[in-house]
Amino acid sequence: MIPHILEILRVRRPRRRHAGSKNPRLAALAAGDWRSAPIPTLSQGAVTMLLTDELKLLDHLAGEYFSGEGTIIDAGCFLGGSTLALANGLRRYLARRGLADQPLIHSFDLFAVEDWTRGIYFPKEIAAGASTRQRFDMATRDIAGLIKVQAGDITAQPWTGGPIEILFIDVAKHWTVCDWITANFFPTLIPGKSIVVQQDYLFGSWTGWLHLTMEYFADNFDIITDTERNSVVFHYAREIAPERLRGDLIENMTEAAARTLFARAAARWQGEQRAILQSAAAHYLEMRHGG
Ligand SMILES: C[S@@+](CC[C@H](N)C(=O)[O-])C[C@H]1O[C@@H](n2cnc3c(N)ncnc32)[C@H](O)[C@@H]1O
Repeated sequence: MIPHILEILRVRRPRRRHAGSKNPRLAALAAGDWRSAPIPTLSQGAVTMLLTDELKLLDHLAGEYFSGEGTIIDAGCFLGGSTLALANGLRRYLARRGLADQPLIHSFDLFAVEDWTRGIYFPKEIAAGASTRQRFDMATRDIAGLIKVQAGDITAQPWTGGPIEILFIDVAKHWTVCDWITANFFPTLIPGKSIVVQQDYLFGSWTGWLHLTMEYFADNFDIITDTERNSVVFHYAREIAPERLRGDLIENMTEAAARTLFARAAARWQGEQRAILQSAAAHYLEMRHGG
């Protein structure tokens, strides 16, 4: 697999954009004033796994960054927390343009209770696998006109919905899903415009495939901002050559390539954030290559 490693080594480090970007929307996103905004109205009281700053980020992305050139993907919506934050911003966008509600947010989820969430988000007595759809529908009833619900395994639903402007990824809990997203969603990102939010980038130590994927495409994405923990925001600055958008990127990545990419990804961060990436690298290498 030497050509594969050489291909990775030729990738340049992306530049971090700063608040002085010539693109005012990108500059505002990077400047981070959205952090001091109030909690999105529709998010108040909503059940979510997201941090408050992540809700504000999604609200800002849909309300101030979104231009209507593509759609918004809410991949992994659970009980509607991310959906409501995005919808709060989208309402602002539509109102500014005098437009009626339209289903610009595509919300994907299995809508099935995961075992670990029993006793936390659901009563302990509920069966793992029970449907969560009713609770999602209830939570999002006032914004039904803004969302298209795509229930079931996301990897069984090839994307045919056209350009994607905001891609919020909170579903890539396994590298096969991450690979599916690369092959199915990345091709319709809009160069120079689209934003990708990797929600698990700075969370725990078990999603190393996110670091590998974004580092593999480091030539194409700039890191814009983050929420300190959890979400990292990437701008799709430069188009990816189609042949690099493989659906087996992580599945068939060699250990040597992974080590190179992990080292490069961790070097972009400091302190606790770097420690998260290093621990994710160790976990991934142990799990897939025996340490
Ligand atoms: C961390 S939760 C999302 C949290 C949500 N964004 C919020 O605001 O609270 C991840 C979600 O991904 C969903 N999920 C995991 N694997 C999936 C798959 N293959 N297809 C569709 N949804 C999936 C789970 O059902 C779960 O609700």
